[in-house]
Amino acid sequence: MDGLIEISEKEFRTLADLIYRTVGIHLTDKKKMLVRGRLNKVIRRLGFSSFEEYFHALESDTSGRNISELIDRISTNHTYFFRENDHFDFFCETVVPWLNEIMAKKGNRDLRIWSAGCASGEEAYTLAMLLAETYGFDYFSAGAPILATDVSSTALNAALLGSYPFERLKDVPQLFLQKYFTKLGMDRYQVKDVLKKLILFKRFNFNNEHFPFRNAFHVIFCRNVMIYFDPPTKDRLIAKFQHFLEPDGFLFIGHSETLGRSHPSFRYIRPATYRKGAV
Ligand SMILES: C[S@@+](CC[C@H](N)C(=O)[O-])C[C@H]1O[C@@H](n2cnc3c(N)ncnc32)[C@H](O)[C@@H]1O
Repeated sequence: MDGLIEISEKEFRTLADLIYRTVGIHLTDKKKMLVRGRLNKVIRRLGFSSFEEYFHALESDTSGRNISELIDRISTNHTYFFRENDHFDFFCETVVPWLNEIMAKKGNRDLRIWSAGCASGEEAYTLAMLLAETYGFDYFSAGAPILATDVSSTALNAALLGSYPFERLKDVPQLFLQKYFTKLGMDRYQVKDVLKKLILFKRFNFNNEHFPFRNAFHVIFCRNVMIYFDPPTKDRLIAKFQHFLEPDGFLFIGHSETLGRSHPSFRYIRPATYRKGAV
Protein backbone atom coordinates (compact mmCIF):
# COMPACT_ATOMS: atom_id res chain seq x y z
CA MET A 1 0.00 0.00 0.00
CA ASP A 2 1.45 3.34 -1.00
CA GLY A 3 -1.52 5.53 -0.08
CA LEU A 4 -2.27 6.36 -3.71
CA ILE A 5 -5.71 6.03 -5.30
CA GLU A 6 -5.90 2.71 -7.15
CA ILE A 7 -6.55 2.48 -10.88
CA SER A 8 -8.28 -0.66 -12.18
CA GLU A 9 -7.50 -2.28 -15.51
CA LYS A 10 -10.79 -0.98 -16.91
CA GLU A 11 -10.13 2.56 -15.65
CA PHE A 12 -6.66 2.53 -17.12
CA ARG A 13 -8.04 1.43 -20.53
CA THR A 14 -10.72 4.17 -20.42
CA LEU A 15 -8.06 6.74 -19.69
CA ALA A 16 -5.64 5.38 -22.30
CA ASP A 17 -8.43 5.45 -24.93
CA LEU A 18 -9.31 9.03 -24.08
CA ILE A 19 -5.67 10.12 -24.34
CA TYR A 20 -5.20 8.24 -27.60
CA ARG A 21 -8.30 9.82 -29.13
CA THR A 22 -7.30 13.28 -27.97
CA VAL A 23 -3.58 13.51 -28.72
CA GLY A 24 -2.55 10.21 -30.28
CA ILE A 25 -0.28 9.26 -27.36
CA HIS A 26 -0.26 5.50 -27.07
CA LEU A 27 -0.10 4.26 -23.47
CA THR A 28 0.86 0.61 -23.13
CA ASP A 29 -0.01 -1.41 -20.01
CA LYS A 30 3.53 -0.82 -18.78
CA LYS A 31 2.61 2.83 -18.18
CA LYS A 32 -0.21 2.01 -15.78
CA MET A 33 1.74 2.72 -12.60
CA LEU A 34 3.30 5.84 -14.06
CA VAL A 35 -0.13 7.20 -15.01
CA ARG A 36 -1.55 6.36 -11.61
CA GLY A 37 1.30 8.21 -9.92
CA ARG A 38 1.12 11.26 -12.17
CA LEU A 39 -2.65 11.67 -11.82
CA ASN A 40 -3.10 11.05 -8.12
CA LYS A 41 -2.27 14.60 -7.13
CA VAL A 42 -4.65 16.04 -9.73
CA ILE A 43 -7.49 13.78 -8.62
CA ARG A 44 -7.02 14.70 -4.98
CA ARG A 45 -6.78 18.40 -5.76
CA LEU A 46 -10.06 18.23 -7.64
CA GLY A 47 -11.58 16.62 -4.55
CA PHE A 48 -12.25 13.15 -5.98
CA SER A 49 -11.50 9.83 -4.38
CA SER A 50 -11.48 7.55 -7.42
CA PHE A 51 -10.50 7.50 -11.08
CA GLU A 52 -14.14 6.88 -11.93
CA GLU A 53 -15.19 10.22 -10.40
CA TYR A 54 -12.36 11.87 -12.28
CA PHE A 55 -13.63 10.44 -15.61
CA HIS A 56 -17.10 11.82 -14.98
CA ALA A 57 -15.57 15.24 -14.42
CA LEU A 58 -13.54 14.94 -17.63
CA GLU A 59 -16.65 13.99 -19.60
CA SER A 60 -18.74 16.85 -18.31
CA ASP A 61 -16.02 19.51 -18.48
CA THR A 62 -16.95 21.81 -21.36
CA SER A 63 -14.13 24.29 -20.63
CA GLY A 64 -11.50 21.76 -21.75
CA ARG A 65 -9.37 22.74 -18.73
CA ASN A 66 -9.40 19.31 -17.10
CA ILE A 67 -8.56 17.44 -20.27
CA SER A 68 -5.80 19.94 -20.95
CA GLU A 69 -4.33 19.31 -17.50
CA LEU A 70 -4.60 15.57 -18.07
CA ILE A 71 -2.56 15.87 -21.29
CA ASP A 72 -0.01 18.02 -19.49
CA ARG A 73 0.43 15.36 -16.83
CA ILE A 74 0.71 12.51 -19.26
CA SER A 75 2.95 13.97 -21.95
CA THR A 76 6.69 14.03 -21.45
CA ASN A 77 8.04 17.53 -21.95
CA HIS A 78 11.70 16.84 -21.26
CA THR A 79 14.00 18.91 -23.48
CA TYR A 80 17.07 21.15 -23.34
CA PHE A 81 19.07 23.61 -25.42
CA PHE A 82 21.21 22.20 -28.26
CA ARG A 83 19.77 18.72 -27.68
CA GLU A 84 21.15 16.23 -30.25
CA ASN A 85 23.58 18.90 -31.30
CA ASP A 86 24.79 17.25 -34.50
CA HIS A 87 21.43 18.28 -36.00
CA PHE A 88 22.30 21.91 -35.35
CA ASP A 89 25.81 21.52 -36.80
CA PHE A 90 24.24 20.00 -39.90
CA PHE A 91 21.66 22.79 -39.96
CA CYS A 92 24.41 25.44 -40.10
CA GLU A 93 26.66 23.57 -42.53
CA THR A 94 24.11 22.20 -44.99
CA VAL A 95 20.64 23.58 -44.44
CA VAL A 96 21.62 27.25 -44.20
CA PRO A 97 23.43 27.25 -47.59
CA TRP A 98 20.34 25.62 -49.12
CA LEU A 99 18.13 28.28 -47.52
CA ASN A 100 20.45 30.95 -48.93
CA GLU A 101 20.05 29.49 -52.43
CA ILE A 102 16.27 29.54 -52.12
CA MET A 103 16.24 33.14 -50.93
CA ALA A 104 18.58 34.18 -53.74
CA LYS A 105 16.43 32.39 -56.35
CA LYS A 106 13.14 33.78 -55.05
CA GLY A 107 14.49 37.21 -54.25
CA ASN A 108 12.77 37.24 -50.85
CA ARG A 109 13.52 36.38 -47.21
CA ASP A 110 10.60 34.12 -46.67
CA LEU A 111 12.01 31.17 -44.71
CA ARG A 112 9.56 28.93 -42.94
CA ILE A 113 10.79 26.83 -40.03
CA TRP A 114 8.62 24.81 -37.64
CA SER A 115 9.62 23.41 -34.28
CA ALA A 116 6.80 20.88 -34.00
CA GLY A 117 6.34 19.55 -30.47
CA CYS A 118 8.53 22.29 -29.01
CA ALA A 119 7.72 21.57 -25.34
CA SER A 120 9.12 24.46 -23.24
CA GLY A 121 10.81 26.09 -26.24
CA GLU A 122 14.50 25.15 -25.97
CA GLU A 123 14.66 23.71 -29.51
CA ALA A 124 13.03 26.80 -31.03
CA TYR A 125 15.30 29.18 -29.06
CA THR A 126 18.34 27.17 -30.16
CA LEU A 127 17.27 27.61 -33.79
CA ALA A 128 16.53 31.28 -33.23
CA MET A 129 20.07 31.87 -31.90
CA LEU A 130 21.60 30.11 -34.89
CA LEU A 131 19.44 32.06 -37.35
CA ALA A 132 20.16 35.34 -35.57
CA GLU A 133 23.88 34.57 -35.77
CA THR A 134 23.56 33.75 -39.47
CA TYR A 135 21.17 36.42 -40.70
CA GLY A 136 21.10 38.99 -37.92
CA PHE A 137 17.92 40.36 -36.38
CA ASP A 138 17.17 42.33 -39.55
CA TYR A 139 16.29 39.19 -41.38
CA PHE A 140 13.32 38.56 -39.17
CA SER A 141 11.74 41.94 -39.66
CA ALA A 142 11.15 40.85 -43.25
CA GLY A 143 10.90 37.09 -42.84
CA ALA A 144 8.46 34.94 -40.93
CA PRO A 145 9.26 34.05 -37.32
CA ILE A 146 10.03 30.47 -36.40
CA LEU A 147 6.78 28.67 -35.64
CA ALA A 148 6.91 26.60 -32.45
CA THR A 149 3.92 24.51 -31.43
CA ASP A 150 2.91 22.09 -28.71
CA VAL A 151 -0.29 20.64 -27.34
CA SER A 152 0.70 21.33 -23.74
CA SER A 153 -0.33 24.77 -22.47
CA THR A 154 1.93 24.46 -19.44
CA ALA A 155 4.94 23.77 -21.66
CA LEU A 156 4.00 26.69 -23.94
CA ASN A 157 3.64 29.05 -20.98
CA ALA A 158 7.14 28.08 -19.87
CA ALA A 159 8.36 28.72 -23.42
CA LEU A 160 6.77 32.15 -23.49
CA LEU A 161 8.27 32.99 -20.11
CA GLY A 162 11.71 31.90 -21.31
CA SER A 163 13.25 31.43 -17.87
CA TYR A 164 15.39 28.30 -17.53
CA PRO A 165 17.57 26.59 -14.93
CA PHE A 166 21.22 26.36 -15.94
CA GLU A 167 20.94 22.58 -16.16
CA ARG A 168 19.03 22.97 -19.45
CA LEU A 169 21.54 25.49 -20.78
CA LYS A 170 24.71 23.49 -20.18
CA ASP A 171 25.33 23.02 -23.91
CA VAL A 172 24.81 26.67 -24.84
CA PRO A 173 28.11 28.27 -25.93
CA GLN A 174 29.33 30.89 -23.45
CA LEU A 175 29.14 33.62 -26.07
CA PHE A 176 25.47 32.87 -26.79
CA LEU A 177 24.72 32.78 -23.08
CA GLN A 178 26.09 36.29 -22.71
CA LYS A 179 24.45 37.60 -25.84
CA TYR A 180 20.96 36.14 -25.66
CA PHE A 181 20.28 35.61 -21.94
CA THR A 182 20.10 37.64 -18.76
CA LYS A 183 21.36 35.94 -15.63
CA LEU A 184 18.61 35.97 -13.02
CA GLY A 185 20.35 34.28 -10.14
CA MET A 186 22.86 31.59 -9.31
CA ASP A 187 21.15 29.02 -11.40
CA ARG A 188 18.61 30.73 -13.65
CA TYR A 189 18.76 32.50 -16.99
CA GLN A 190 16.17 34.52 -18.87
CA VAL A 191 15.91 34.62 -22.67
CA LYS A 192 16.20 38.21 -23.91
CA ASP A 193 13.23 39.79 -25.67
CA VAL A 194 15.19 40.20 -28.93
CA LEU A 195 15.30 36.40 -29.18
CA LYS A 196 11.72 35.88 -28.03
CA LYS A 197 10.52 38.07 -30.89
CA LEU A 198 11.90 35.62 -33.43
CA ILE A 199 9.48 32.89 -32.43
CA LEU A 200 5.73 32.50 -32.63
CA PHE A 201 4.56 30.01 -29.97
CA LYS A 202 1.16 28.44 -30.64
CA ARG A 203 -0.89 25.62 -29.20
CA PHE A 204 -1.45 22.94 -31.80
CA ASN A 205 -2.49 19.30 -31.56
CA PHE A 206 -1.02 16.95 -34.21
CA ASN A 207 -4.16 14.88 -33.86
CA ASN A 208 -6.24 17.65 -35.47
CA GLU A 209 -7.65 16.77 -38.84
CA HIS A 210 -6.94 20.23 -40.18
CA PHE A 211 -3.44 21.70 -40.22
CA PRO A 212 -3.96 25.46 -40.53
CA PHE A 213 -0.93 26.43 -42.62
CA ARG A 214 -1.18 28.50 -45.76
CA ASN A 215 2.36 27.84 -46.90
CA ALA A 216 4.66 24.86 -46.71
CA PHE A 217 7.79 24.86 -44.51
CA HIS A 218 11.41 24.63 -45.58
CA VAL A 219 12.43 22.88 -42.38
CA ILE A 220 10.48 20.89 -39.79
CA PHE A 221 11.97 19.74 -36.50
CA CYS A 222 9.75 17.10 -34.90
CA ARG A 223 12.08 15.38 -32.50
CA ASN A 224 11.25 13.00 -29.67
CA VAL A 225 7.52 13.35 -30.21
CA MET A 226 6.57 10.44 -32.46
CA ILE A 227 8.07 7.90 -30.04
CA TYR A 228 4.86 8.30 -28.04
CA PHE A 229 2.62 7.51 -31.02
CA ASP A 230 1.53 4.18 -32.45
CA PRO A 231 2.35 3.39 -36.13
CA PRO A 232 -0.97 4.64 -37.65
CA THR A 233 -0.77 7.97 -35.78
CA LYS A 234 2.89 8.36 -36.69
CA ASP A 235 2.22 7.56 -40.36
CA ARG A 236 -0.61 10.10 -40.50
CA LEU A 237 1.63 12.79 -39.04
CA ILE A 238 4.50 12.00 -41.41
CA ALA A 239 2.07 12.25 -44.35
CA LYS A 240 1.09 15.71 -43.07
CA PHE A 241 4.74 16.73 -42.79
CA GLN A 242 5.28 15.51 -46.32
CA HIS A 243 2.36 17.66 -47.47
CA PHE A 244 3.53 20.72 -45.56
CA LEU A 245 7.17 20.64 -46.64
CA GLU A 246 8.60 22.44 -49.66
CA PRO A 247 10.26 20.17 -52.26
CA ASP A 248 13.65 19.07 -50.84
CA GLY A 249 12.60 20.46 -47.45
CA PHE A 250 14.25 18.97 -44.37
CA LEU A 251 12.60 16.87 -41.68
CA PHE A 252 14.52 16.27 -38.45
CA ILE A 253 13.29 13.60 -36.07
CA GLY A 254 14.76 12.32 -32.79
CA HIS A 255 17.84 10.08 -32.97
CA SER A 256 15.96 7.21 -31.36
CA GLU A 257 13.24 7.45 -34.04
CA THR A 258 13.01 6.39 -37.66
CA LEU A 259 10.59 7.06 -40.51
CA GLY A 260 10.60 3.39 -41.46
CA ARG A 261 10.17 2.09 -44.96
CA SER A 262 6.60 3.18 -45.47
CA HIS A 263 7.52 6.71 -46.51
CA PRO A 264 9.19 6.61 -49.92
CA SER A 265 8.38 10.28 -50.39
CA PHE A 266 11.27 11.08 -48.04
CA ARG A 267 14.90 10.31 -48.68
CA TYR A 268 17.29 9.44 -45.88
CA ILE A 269 20.17 11.91 -45.57
CA ARG A 270 21.86 11.00 -42.29
CA PRO A 271 20.73 9.75 -38.88
CA ALA A 272 17.34 11.24 -38.01
CA THR A 273 17.48 13.59 -41.01
CA TYR A 274 15.34 13.32 -44.14
CA ARG A 275 14.48 15.39 -47.21
CA LYS A 276 11.22 15.53 -49.05
CA GLY A 277 11.34 13.85 -52.44
CA ALA A 278 12.03 10.31 -53.59
CA VAL A 279 15.63 9.15 -54.13
C1 LIG B 1 9.87 15.11 -25.25
S1 LIG B 1 9.11 16.57 -25.83
C2 LIG B 1 10.14 16.97 -27.23
C3 LIG B 1 10.70 18.36 -27.19
C4 LIG B 1 11.72 18.70 -28.28
N1 LIG B 1 11.19 18.52 -29.59
C5 LIG B 1 12.98 17.88 -28.09
O1 LIG B 1 13.27 17.02 -28.90
O2 LIG B 1 13.69 18.11 -27.11
C6 LIG B 1 7.63 15.94 -26.62
C7 LIG B 1 6.56 17.01 -26.80
O3 LIG B 1 5.57 16.52 -27.71
C8 LIG B 1 4.33 17.09 -27.33
N2 LIG B 1 3.20 16.35 -27.92
C9 LIG B 1 2.81 15.10 -27.63
N3 LIG B 1 1.69 14.79 -28.31
C10 LIG B 1 1.39 15.88 -29.05
C11 LIG B 1 0.33 16.20 -29.96
N4 LIG B 1 -0.64 15.32 -30.25
N5 LIG B 1 0.33 17.41 -30.55
C12 LIG B 1 1.31 18.31 -30.27
N6 LIG B 1 2.32 18.09 -29.41
C13 LIG B 1 2.36 16.88 -28.81
C14 LIG B 1 4.37 17.02 -25.81
O4 LIG B 1 3.46 17.92 -25.21
C15 LIG B 1 5.84 17.33 -25.51
O5 LIG B 1 6.02 18.68 -25.17
